[in-house]
Amino acid sequence: MTGLPTDRSYARECDAADPLAPFRQRFVQPAGPPLIYLDGNSLGMLPLATAERITNVMYREWGTGLIRSWDHWVDLPTRAGDLLGRHLLGAALGQVVVSDSTTVNLYKLARAALAARPGHPVIVTDDNNFPTDRYVLAGVAAERGGQVRLITTDTDGGLATDAVRAAVDGQTALVCLSHVAYRSGALADMAAITEIAHRHGALVLWDLCHSAGSVPVDLDGCGADLAVGCTYKYLNAGPGAPAYLYVRRGLQDQLRQPVQGWFGQRDQFEMGPAYQPVAGIGRFLTGTPDIIGISAVEEGARLLGEAGIGRIRQKGQQLTQYLIELADAWLAPLGFTVASPRDPERRGSHVSLHHPGADAISRALIARGVVPDYRTPDRLRLGLAPVTTRFTDVWDALDCLRQITPGLASGPRRAGPE
Ligand SMILES: Cc1ncc(COP(=O)(O)O)c(C=O)c1O
Repeated sequence: MTGLPTDRSYARECDAADPLAPFRQRFVQPAGPPLIYLDGNSLGMLPLATAERITNVMYREWGTGLIRSWDHWVDLPTRAGDLLGRHLLGAALGQVVVSDSTTVNLYKLARAALAARPGHPVIVTDDNNFPTDRYVLAGVAAERGGQVRLITTDTDGGLATDAVRAAVDGQTALVCLSHVAYRSGALADMAAITEIAHRHGALVLWDLCHSAGSVPVDLDGCGADLAVGCTYKYLNAGPGAPAYLYVRRGLQDQLRQPVQGWFGQRDQFEMGPAYQPVAGIGRFLTGTPDIIGISAVEEGARLLGEAGIGRIRQKGQQLTQYLIELADAWLAPLGFTVASPRDPERRGSHVSLHHPGADAISRALIARGVVPDYRTPDRLRLGLAPVTTRFTDVWDALDCLRQITPGLASGPRRAGPE
């Protein structure tokens, strides 16, 4: 504990000094009673610019432009991908496209990676990886006669690099892991793990859902091969907005993705008899892109690019540290323990707290206008999105927690989307 002041005036001072504070005004503020929203790592808030852009896409580009708008819509998946790559993923041009969902992109890339490593049947992942990742990898392994090798990871401490070192060998085709763990927020060492995989000739596929827009990602710098991620969390592109995928340039033409759709086809409008993938990142597209959704992705990437990932990271670390210190001071005596790594370099932008009554506490918070997330069996997950969360939000939420916790009962409940 570093001993930050626990009175609310300190939180107000931090907000006043926060260079990102003005960004909050650029989001739609929920109508009704005041809301403290600590779930931007599940569904980010709506930027005003996105609402305006989507209205424009609908009425002008679609309503008036109709089919003529495809002239500029057609490169939107790569344009938005390049913007994400430049501002948030550490990827040079031509390596990122926005398309499909994270789940579908994961399937495309994992399947392509396995096909590119014949004779190497093993996919390495960990038991803490997000369910969709584990399910997709199991399906890909079954399709290719391979097997999934599951690393056992401590849910709170996060993925240990040494455990990856012990699991990867010459049989491994693919290592697929989450960069920031969805429950604890623990951050994996992308550079070290990528290097371990490469030493054994394996490819690496990173799930960036909880990291893009919250922590700096340097895909090119780490030599990563493949990555996927969603856009509805820190990127604020809206529920079900399309995901993105990254394929390292040198690998693109070696991979053949399994969903052989016409948007990845060379000379698409010749309507030829057989699938011949276009050169480059475009071959990882499938069918007609979701133009409204990708427009929202582009706006989200632009806004976060303006905020700057350096400032976002700095504020994310300050917010999570502040939350942990208030939890130690106020909530530990009420039975809470911090489930996220205490080292700010080892965590993303959300903090999980254990409490046996987390379910009931989460519902009681929601009833009082504080929106957290509950994760089975005993976790309260608090997402601090640096462009929209204030220090006073953290103080008010934890103050509410310390008031309501005494006397609340526990019990299982179904958790919502991530
Ligand atoms: C880490 C992680 N991976 C994958 C997914 C699944 O993404 P989708 O449902 O958009 O395919 C999520 C969803 O929240 C997630 O948090």
